[in-house]
Amino acid sequence: MAHDTVTARHSLWAQDLDGFPPAGDGHFDVVVIGGGITGVTTALRLKEAGVSVAVVEAGHVGGGVSGNNTAKVTALQSTVYSTIADKHGLSAAADYAAASAAGVAEVARRAVDCDLRRAPAYTFALSPDELPTVDHEALTASRAGLPVDRDRGEGMGVPFEVFGAVRLDDQLALHPVKYVTGLARRIPGDGSAVYAHSRVTRVDEGSPCRVVTATGTLTADRVVVATHYPFLDRGLYFSRLEPNRSYCVAVRLKSGAPPTGMAISAGSPSWSLSAYGELLIVCGRSHTTGDAPGDPYGELEAFARRHWDVESVTHRWSAQDPSAYDKLPMIGSYTPGSSRLYVATGFMKWGLSTGTFAAMILSDLVLGRDNPWAERFSPHRMSWGSLPSLVSINARAATSFVGDRLKTSDTRSVRDVPVGTARVVGDTGVYRDEAGDVHAVSLRCTHLGCRVRFNDAERTWDCPCHGSRFDVDGEVLEGPATKPLERRDRPE
Ligand SMILES: Cc1cc2nc3c(=O)[nH]c(=O)nc-3n(C[C@H](O)[C@H](O)[C@H](O)COP(=O)(O)OP(=O)(O)OC[C@H]3O[C@@H](n4cnc5c(N)ncnc54)[C@H](O)[C@@H]3O)c2cc1C
Ligand code: FES
Repeated sequence: MAHDTVTARHSLWAQDLDGFPPAGDGHFDVVVIGGGITGVTTALRLKEAGVSVAVVEAGHVGGGVSGNNTAKVTALQSTVYSTIADKHGLSAAADYAAASAAGVAEVARRAVDCDLRRAPAYTFALSPDELPTVDHEALTASRAGLPVDRDRGEGMGVPFEVFGAVRLDDQLALHPVKYVTGLARRIPGDGSAVYAHSRVTRVDEGSPCRVVTATGTLTADRVVVATHYPFLDRGLYFSRLEPNRSYCVAVRLKSGAPPTGMAISAGSPSWSLSAYGELLIVCGRSHTTGDAPGDPYGELEAFARRHWDVESVTHRWSAQDPSAYDKLPMIGSYTPGSSRLYVATGFMKWGLSTGTFAAMILSDLVLGRDNPWAERFSPHRMSWGSLPSLVSINARAATSFVGDRLKTSDTRSVRDVPVGTARVVGDTGVYRDEAGDVHAVSLRCTHLGCRVRFNDAERTWDCPCHGSRFDVDGEVLEGPATKPLERRDRPE
């Protein structure tokens, strides 16, 4: 595994991205939109059941969040059981535990040639004041039916003091892009296909459904939207989900070894630790998409250097994943009235296992089979106890629709925009690249019109309302937006 030449803002996993052709016209029993772990697993399960299926991916298969994560496949997920039990009761936590364990088992069953390694997963206390959180999680996860143990994190293999940990043995670490592309390669043939570089801009639910891309229109009896954030403007997902962004570094060590276990600290900020070969992976520094990130890569590197003998940073990457207002994933029919359109979202940064169990639920729903968790994770539940979070998500969007427009420019002239930075000049976002060239775009997000903000760490325009992201020339990097920001002439 030679990684030393890969540099800034490039996922450790991106090197093995695979190529599939763009979409044309055609008919399939089911079209799955999104070539991440959720979409590809759903499609493969359907194909195995004798259904003709097409996956349509906007970029590279496995190049979304599934290719930009910490690569832990585990049913122990930070403090998720305390969170779910507090909001929905122990039976919901038990359903989540059983479904997650099934997701992990499904990945283990399907994993071929993806550097799979079994390892214990930990949620640990980095300081004494994080101990009550760890204890609460240990107790709740155990009551929810997970075979966890409470220890001091001896098996984590880290060179710093751990004040206590909850452990779940026999979980998985893998190369997520090798895993996803490995599944995707098993789909084409016998009336099924995988298409890449084909962003879907429109879906008409009907008989048949129509799925429109720039290079062709597909028709299908059923359509699954597995785009991690649902991009279709129906079902009120925009008001029920909040995208949250995190950052990762991979570092080579001069001496010592990366952790043997997969670990995440229980406090805030939270540090997520893993290893790939001889490389240490540190992720964290989460924030709601659209907020100023500060210097996340610097902080992650500083954490690594504080505890390990670091030789070099080999990779830096970031990604985002939405959480539902009530902290359960949303998996099922797209709207209460949909009988042909399905969705899976809200994985809270644990979608390698959750996306996999979502695929199990979705494939059962499409095939008309019973699934023990379908009702629990239905997108159409109403969680009254979580209404304050719902209000807070929508208040944030309301501020960005209206309040942000009243803000004045950062600077009066484009001449004042320093190299490598962005400023707002009038109503235009201006970025000056390292060569001194100016890139100017409208600040109006093409999704629903919120005002985008610059992310200095990634050099992107990010939307605080629903998480769409655009490059400095306005091209869409992540939806729900499907159209680029309007390009502007260079302002004075
Ligand atoms: C920093 C970070 C670390 C994480 N670490 C872990 C971890 O250790 N373990 C874990 O379980 N989870 C982790 N996650 C979460 C996990 O990676 C995701 O939940 C999971 O990969 C989501 O898979 P997905 O298939 O739903 O989405 P994606 O992998 O994003 O796939 C969706 C695909 O849809 C495509 N798409 C979007 N819009 C369109 C359109 N209009 N037309 C066509 N295609 C479209 C996208 O290009 C994308 O490829 C992490 C997340 C983050 C942000
Ligand atoms: S992502 Fe919805 S308005 Fe920008």
